Amino acid sequence: MKNRVITVITAFMMGAMLTACGSGEPASAPSVADNDKAAVQEKLNKQDSKTETTDVKTEDTSAESEVVSEAVTDAAPSENEPASDGKNILVAYFSRADENYNVGTIDKGNTQIVAEYIASEVGADSFHIETVTPYPADYDDCCDVAKKELADKARPELSGTVENMEQYDIVFLGYPIWWGDMPMAVYSFMDSYDFSDKVVIPFNTHEGSGESGTYSAIDSYLPNAQVLDGMAIQGKTAQEFSSDTQQSVRNWLDGLGF
Ligand SMILES: Cc1cc2nc3c(=O)[nH]c(=O)nc-3n(C[C@H](O)[C@H](O)[C@H](O)COP(=O)(O)O)c2cc1C
Repeated sequence: MKNRVITVITAFMMGAMLTACGSGEPASAPSVADNDKAAVQEKLNKQDSKTETTDVKTEDTSAESEVVSEAVTDAAPSENEPASDGKNILVAYFSRADENYNVGTIDKGNTQIVAEYIASEVGADSFHIETVTPYPADYDDCCDVAKKELADKARPELSGTVENMEQYDIVFLGYPIWWGDMPMAVYSFMDSYDFSDKVVIPFNTHEGSGESGTYSAIDSYLPNAQVLDGMAIQGKTAQEFSSDTQQSVRNWLDGLGF
């Protein structure tokens, strides 16, 4: 365990050295495993067939419904379009603005930038995971609070809830790496809902630690969900190199079949 902590902190420091010159790390899309793509496709097809079923029912009842039916048929996915209307997809993310490492004081958190891009690309709903007690705006103070929460395995109270969580088959779950782990608020979020049979797709920002083992941590924490490998992007790249970030996110989503 001690070695793991040293490894995490060393990686974080190496990231700091690499980015001290002012450039971000180039963002690149991770390769997607065939079974991860298949898991996403299964959920997207499920949504598709739900739409078709509703469609057939309405088609029989009135002329107006026939128009709805035609519209849905026209919107059938082509190779370049997502196979879903996004109604069954949620992008839930934790992200903190204010003073942060390597980017100064920011108006919008690094992870939020990535989350908004994913949500707009797949047409998903979004949910910002926020705590009742906000984290300090000062970076060092925030590090102290986060370190104590990690040591205490705290589960900070969240200030909002996702309505109709059961409607979502696919949940993108985004967060920054804090002290080599997820912020404890992300564990509070995972505690709050039933993730059975959902496909959970993690993504994260960081400053050198990569995903830091968090994807397998989520997999263990949500044994009834199907947790895929995610995408990690350096926070500074997300904050300052938007076209690079958008391209890698787009490539990653393409690989998943969105
Ligand atoms: C409390 C705290 C702890 C952090 N710990 C790590 C870490 O262990 N490894 C790392 O690579 N980055 C670490 N960072 C940097 C963040 O992961 C990075 O800045 C991230 O992009 C912030 O995302 P956000 O703006 O969405 O909150 C830490 C930042 C904070 C505030």
